[in-house]
Amino acid sequence: MRRIVAWLGGVVLVVGQAAWAAQPEFKPNYDESKVPAYELPDPLVTRDGRPVADARTWREVRRPEILELFRTHVYGRAPGRPAKLTFDVFDLDRAVELFPATATRPAGIAHVTRKQVTIRLTGQADGPSIDLLMYLPNLGRPVPVFLLLNFAGNHAVCTDPGIRLSRSWMRSSYPGVVDNRATEASRGSAASRFPLDQILARGYGVVTAYYGDIDPDFDDGFKNGVHGAFDRPDAPRPPDAWGSIAAWAWGLSRAMDYLETDPDVDSRRVAVLGHSRLGKTALWAGAQDERFAMVISNNSGCGGAALSRRCFGETVTRINQHFPHWFCENFKRYNDRESELPVDQHMLIALIAPRPVYVASAEEDRWADPKGEFLSARHADPVYRLLGTDGMAVSDMPELGQPVMSTIGYHIRPGKHDLALYDWQRYVDFADKHLGKR
Ligand code: GCU
Repeated sequence: MRRIVAWLGGVVLVVGQAAWAAQPEFKPNYDESKVPAYELPDPLVTRDGRPVADARTWREVRRPEILELFRTHVYGRAPGRPAKLTFDVFDLDRAVELFPATATRPAGIAHVTRKQVTIRLTGQADGPSIDLLMYLPNLGRPVPVFLLLNFAGNHAVCTDPGIRLSRSWMRSSYPGVVDNRATEASRGSAASRFPLDQILARGYGVVTAYYGDIDPDFDDGFKNGVHGAFDRPDAPRPPDAWGSIAAWAWGLSRAMDYLETDPDVDSRRVAVLGHSRLGKTALWAGAQDERFAMVISNNSGCGGAALSRRCFGETVTRINQHFPHWFCENFKRYNDRESELPVDQHMLIALIAPRPVYVASAEEDRWADPKGEFLSARHADPVYRLLGTDGMAVSDMPELGQPVMSTIGYHIRPGKHDLALYDWQRYVDFADKHLGKR
């Protein structure tokens, strides 16, 4: 859908395909006293009112029911694993010198393995594909990994000239991107979000892919990316058809399909992680695909970890208006009607149970509603406890820089909306604690 947005004295006029709609300018609420009174749907009561008192009823009745509610009303329904998926390992170097040895760096980390793999989603060279970039410590055994999508292309995660420069569509506002294509000047531009040396030194690999390989992040009526390749062009788009978040999450599962075949990776210890819109994506991927042993949401906000019913910062209406391609069409029915949603985001976290999940907020990231992010993690606790874990160890939001490391983990750090070194350090601590012994 083409859109023209004009500002007229505080009123936004959005010219869509068919009609004019005047929307008042959005003013986010940042006042806790103005958060509306709300009641959350109980994750441990079925749609027909039956209490869920044992793990089996959760597993066989309530969990499938909640998954279905999120598919129908929030993210939309994605296809399964494509029949003709192929993997092409086009780069393998077991002696990449990313981190020259220093007095303080543990021996063996100077040389790491870099691997790059093209996942062909239709099995055809001219069909859509995802390039995975992997850095693995050389430990002589399969290693646990963090899997995450990136915003600016694989070549942006570090200056290693061996990384293939992305050829996918990219936002021109990113450093070194010209006419929506990456140039050599964009190498390493997102390196601050990828402290590779620290992560690899602690025994974990990093696997990443550019999210735009899966679906370019703009509203094109679902013609490009995997929607164009897998949807029926002749049929009208159902209101529960997959949006972009569902597509990116589906792409993470295809990356997992590859990781299961890679003998250098311990595929039973893959933590899926994401920042911001890709944090929403990581949660939805981890909720659906139980091969992910751990799930981490970094500053994911509205449509991610934050409770929709709090209407603090970004709201359902605002996200649907600005990013009409992210969720399924049905989600728009809940614009300004959050209380009618049959789910809230604590139920998304509960779908991950009993696997460890970590939610992280940043103090200045009020748009993402840090308290709402904490509360949905907190309200997933009864499900985690029903399944025999320690759930979330605290009932009140912790102070800045006081991470909670129970099976539901949480921290809020000072600073802005970002994926920072502090966040990564806590995720590695969390993985040491919860993935280490598998
Ligand atoms: C916008 C959007 C958020 C999103 C963020 C991001 O701020 O409103 O929902 O999380 O972009 O992905 O960076």
